[in-house]
Amino acid sequence: MIPPKPAARSGPVSRWRYLRLFRDDILSAQPAKLYRAKMAEFRAPFLRSVLINTPELVREVLIERPGDFPKSPRVTAGLRRLLGNSVFVTNAKTWARQRRIVEQCFGAGELRRVFPAMLDAAAEAAGRLPDGEIDVEPETSRAAADVIFRTLFSLPIDEPTATATYAAFRSYARTQPLLTPRAFAFFLPAFHRRETRLAAAKVRGLIGRLVADRAAAIAAGTAPDDLATRLMTATDPETGQTLPEGEAADQVAIFFLAGHETSAAALAWALWLVADDEGLQSRIAADWRGFSSERSFQGLSKLPTARDVFREALRLYPPVPMMVRETTRRETFRGRALPKGTQVVISPWHIHRHEAYWEAPDAFDLSRWADKPLREHYLPFSAGPRVCPGASFALAEGVACLSEIVARHRVARRAVPVPVAQLTTRSRDGIRLAFSPRPGA
Ligand code: HEM
Repeated sequence: MIPPKPAARSGPVSRWRYLRLFRDDILSAQPAKLYRAKMAEFRAPFLRSVLINTPELVREVLIERPGDFPKSPRVTAGLRRLLGNSVFVTNAKTWARQRRIVEQCFGAGELRRVFPAMLDAAAEAAGRLPDGEIDVEPETSRAAADVIFRTLFSLPIDEPTATATYAAFRSYARTQPLLTPRAFAFFLPAFHRRETRLAAAKVRGLIGRLVADRAAAIAAGTAPDDLATRLMTATDPETGQTLPEGEAADQVAIFFLAGHETSAAALAWALWLVADDEGLQSRIAADWRGFSSERSFQGLSKLPTARDVFREALRLYPPVPMMVRETTRRETFRGRALPKGTQVVISPWHIHRHEAYWEAPDAFDLSRWADKPLREHYLPFSAGPRVCPGASFALAEGVACLSEIVARHRVARRAVPVPVAQLTTRSRDGIRLAFSPRPGA
């Protein structure tokens, strides 16, 4: 089965038409030849951008010389209202200090501790699904937000503050795309709609309160053992310092944003991919029955079918379709001179479907996971020192949620979704699926 992909642009278009296409959807604005190209250059007045599509160049930028290619402020500017000075938007020394603390929240010990809360969220998500046809995206968003609230703050999503924060986040995500044309076109002003500004202020207010309450509980010695407590008490191994006051809220905000939008998108696509394939669903359900007796973090290895479906979902529909860095000096890529300030685009979307690196790149095929593909061709979590610190968390969550849902429900397709890049890779008109009880569940 070949799952849907947006129609790519064929043939050249003017710069203005490109920007208009880009504004509508960044994925279909790109030319079809990018699924074959090694590198492509875009020129706008006063700004150069290159999309790099080879493992060698990606390795150089993300792994070997990341300090020479910081995150582009052009891209992160749009997120600052919500994320403040979070680890996702900072660079250099500030980033390194924050990253040393953030990493301590995602060690194997921490994941083992929060895993039961993930399973509770997965069980509730499966229980919430009605029989009949629905758009599953709001359901997976709610499930992923529930996972984050339970693991960060030990709060289920139905608690009023969690529900209010989630609603404000949704409104922010609807109006703030991950990449705007400004990332490619210098002369466009940074613009935030009123709705985006209000939603960001509301989220920050709610998160500020949660963080203040937690700081009080830590001081009183009554804080639960969850990710928020870990984040706010972890010390930097180099300096012995905890996060400076005010910065905890920034890191909590990125845990919400990076943790819930991405996982929700991946789970919705994974459900679409298994829908209509009763044989595959039965295998996932059988694995889950084998896992259910122990329900431990280590036991996740008993869910190989759901794991491979989730990996394939992340390949075909990477939640972060593109990442942007900036050159800090003159560089030469593939013999082409690039001035300082060139935007360097790394596109998991194109690398994951590149004709030179994958056999039948557009096909949903679990057998490709039998021999591990080269890491450099598979970048759903990025690579190098800025690799997603929540990758193991996200895989555990995705595999658990997918398995629990499929173990309880039969899933069938109702429409063919059209992928578009919003804050993450979503479907233009939602993902319509029909659920019915799985016999014997
Ligand atoms: C399927 C789920 C997820 C995917 C596909 C994903 C993907 C990514 C990617 C591609 C990046 C790098 C972005 C860039 O460099 O421009 C990133 C960064 C990040 N992610 Fe994730 N992520 C996921 C889940 C999570 C979760 C669950 C958390 C935390 C609870 C998380 C926290 C972060 C943070 C804090 C960063 C910034 C790291 C840094 O810049 O040092 N992510 N993620």
